[in-house]
Amino acid sequence: MRKIQFFDTTLRDGEQTPGVNFNTKEKIQIAMQLEKWGIDVIEAGFPIASQGDFEAVKAIAENAKRMTVVGLARCQKKDIDRAYEALKDAVDPQIHTFLATSNVHMEYKLKMTREEVLASIKEHVGYARTLFEKVQFSPEDASRTDRDFLLEAVQTAIDAGATIINVPDTVGYSNPTEYGGIFKYLIEHIKSDQEITFSSHCHDDLGMATANALAAIENGANRVEGAINGIGERAGNTALEEVALALHIRKDFYNCESNIVLNETKRTSDLVSRLSGIPVPRNKAIIGDNAYAHESGIHQDGVLKNPETYEIITPTLVGVSQNSLPLGKLSGRHAFVTKIEELGYQLTDEEIKTAFKRFKDLADKKKQITDQDLIALLTDQSREESERCKLANVQVQYSSGGYQGAIVSIINEAGETKVASTIGSGSIQAIYNSIDELFQQKPELSEYEIQAITGGEDAQAEVRVTLHDPTTKQDFRGIGIDFDVLQASAKAYIQASNQMKEQE
Ligand code: KIV
Ligand code: ZN
Repeated sequence: MRKIQFFDTTLRDGEQTPGVNFNTKEKIQIAMQLEKWGIDVIEAGFPIASQGDFEAVKAIAENAKRMTVVGLARCQKKDIDRAYEALKDAVDPQIHTFLATSNVHMEYKLKMTREEVLASIKEHVGYARTLFEKVQFSPEDASRTDRDFLLEAVQTAIDAGATIINVPDTVGYSNPTEYGGIFKYLIEHIKSDQEITFSSHCHDDLGMATANALAAIENGANRVEGAINGIGERAGNTALEEVALALHIRKDFYNCESNIVLNETKRTSDLVSRLSGIPVPRNKAIIGDNAYAHESGIHQDGVLKNPETYEIITPTLVGVSQNSLPLGKLSGRHAFVTKIEELGYQLTDEEIKTAFKRFKDLADKKKQITDQDLIALLTDQSREESERCKLANVQVQYSSGGYQGAIVSIINEAGETKVASTIGSGSIQAIYNSIDELFQQKPELSEYEIQAITGGEDAQAEVRVTLHDPTTKQDFRGIGIDFDVLQASAKAYIQASNQMKEQE
């Protein structure tokens, strides 16, 4: 069977989703989970983009044990040098250089002629090759590039030392027949003494990203790029979990295998969803809550007689545990630590101490603490630790008619407590007005979602908000988890407000 390499770009292209901002600690957490999931190559970021990106790529390069760690670089010497600085200590470093080759990009964005583009590819791939053994080149907007020129650009990159060629469908314009055809054409026509790895990189603007990636594999691609839960620029990237499962379930057709540890899929998806603040739609393939639910009587009857009647994927295959043993208020520290290790967390003694206290507080209010509760608690804790200003207290005065009042206090970076009190036409509005006053900001609340983390009356609430800064036109997301909905709403808003403040 042919081995397909999985290249994850959740932390680079995935982070280009509006409003998604992972901090370094979260990036390392996601990277470590991706390594556990079996990812072969991780694109950890775009080192020249910011100091934060540089540090995150460097930290992942230092922490990854097995995966190849990649940094993105434009065809510019300063980008390549910066990527080298960030990646030089990785076990297996790789650079990913790119330059657009479609007419529309060359004429309007780059303002470069074809000759200039070819010269830049030659110069910069050649330079990258002096620093890196593994050089990947992407002709950006490849699917809208003239075939002959695409071949010329790819051949130039190979001649200059690239051994990995990625073919981006940058704007999600292609379809499986056409996209697969590009791979067939390039593989048939390139000349090289070395083995060249062809990689697919699809966007989902027309909903064809997974189908296009699979068409690329059918036509000779040995590497597939994408992001967990399909997050990314505009409609997102190929959802890697979909490709992994398609190759596994339909090995009879694709005759390919991968290193993906399938039963880590759900955990990986949950982590990315939580840290990105982007919920997974219930009906999402592979990892949506309804993916294994059978509603109609005929289906239920069939599944009871033989699951294969309506179930092509078993929930356990992707790590959807249906009746994992919950903890309760009598559970001790040992059971707690064993459970969090089982869930894939590696915490320091200090973090365990804080988490155990939070767990006990929650267990006082909630009878059974499920895996989802624990994951939520740990994610919340890790987010809060990195926040500049933290929520100290919320007090709401509710009256069934007229305005509501809220007093909110926060602890700022200097450790001082700041208090604000305001009114609003609802309790949440009153809380949010107080937080705005404390942060001295006036964002627009463009999204507010609330859901229960588990079933039952004593479920914890998870609130997700998106704040829009009308001046910079940027979005900031926040998630708050708490037993109380008002407290969860305040936490989510403070998290997003902290991010907005950091951009000032
Ligand atoms: O979609 C795209 O073209 C990209 C490139 C940087 C590879 O993300
Ligand atoms: Zn992309």
